[in-house]
Amino acid sequence: MLNDPVLLNDWHVVAYAPALPERQPVAARLLDEDLVLWKVDGRVHVWRDLCVHRGARLSLGRVEDGCLICPYHGWTYDEEGHCVRFPAHPEQKPPATAHARVYRSCLRYDWVWVTLGEPQHEVPAFPEWDDASFRKVHTGPYSVETSGPRAIENFLDVAHFPYVHAGLLGDPSHAAINDYTVETGEDGITARDITVWQPNPDGSGQGAEVTYTYRVLRPLTAYFVKTSQGPRFAMFFTVTPVSERRCIAWQYVALNYGEQSEEEIRRFEDMVMQQDIRVIESQRPELLPLDLQAELHLRSDRTAIAYRRWLRRLGVTFGTA
Ligand code: FES
Ligand code: CO
Repeated sequence: MLNDPVLLNDWHVVAYAPALPERQPVAARLLDEDLVLWKVDGRVHVWRDLCVHRGARLSLGRVEDGCLICPYHGWTYDEEGHCVRFPAHPEQKPPATAHARVYRSCLRYDWVWVTLGEPQHEVPAFPEWDDASFRKVHTGPYSVETSGPRAIENFLDVAHFPYVHAGLLGDPSHAAINDYTVETGEDGITARDITVWQPNPDGSGQGAEVTYTYRVLRPLTAYFVKTSQGPRFAMFFTVTPVSERRCIAWQYVALNYGEQSEEEIRRFEDMVMQQDIRVIESQRPELLPLDLQAELHLRSDRTAIAYRRWLRRLGVTFGTA
């Protein structure tokens, strides 16, 4: 059994709802648990991917008349998870124990969020979501062979821009990071006034300094917004812990300027993410060390230091060492 009540009781994204097919079960995996997702008339159900008869995967089954039918002997489950029919004994009424394991799920930002436990928090807020002056572009998802916390820490790390994203988000001749401030509260971490030089921050082709505020909203959800004058750009980023060493990154870009098509924005974000993935999949150990003595730190790593401390205080164990 998973020994991480924090992540067990937290919300995690398992699908981009518009991409989920109607009436066709889909498999997903979260915290080492196999899930089946199925959608009927826009309602999405998330269950353990296991038939209680002989343990076959329900995601191999099919949807018929609003029920999910097991591929093995045809046990038929209604939308609540009750088994309503044993085809081998059509006259027999299934007992209450013939029931799928149903997980709590909700739809926010067009994503299907699920919790394997009892949620202690709301789905984190994405401030630009309801602000019509921002275009929201969904990019990804990206499957990454590392732990969720390593992926979040990379999202929080601006000092890698000049190296990993040279020419796109930074330049090695402008690699210095200012002494910014970090606060940790009950609701997460805020790092304010991080200034970095970027080759083309607003699409005009002119290099300029850009100031960011980063927030860690939950152990595996983070956000940044550019707070410099002029065009606004934000990113909402959440990571699904598939297993300890494998995660899926989901993100939205929110911006209030520019003529770029969604396709161009996606292509740019895909390129940036591929550059990140190459490096973060190389990190060892894959599990994020919460003992601050385990790796070396600089002043510019203060967001990461606060993140490691916070995870340790919360007791996050899945994907950490
Ligand atoms: Fe599902 Fe037998 S295993 S019906
Ligand atoms: Co990066």
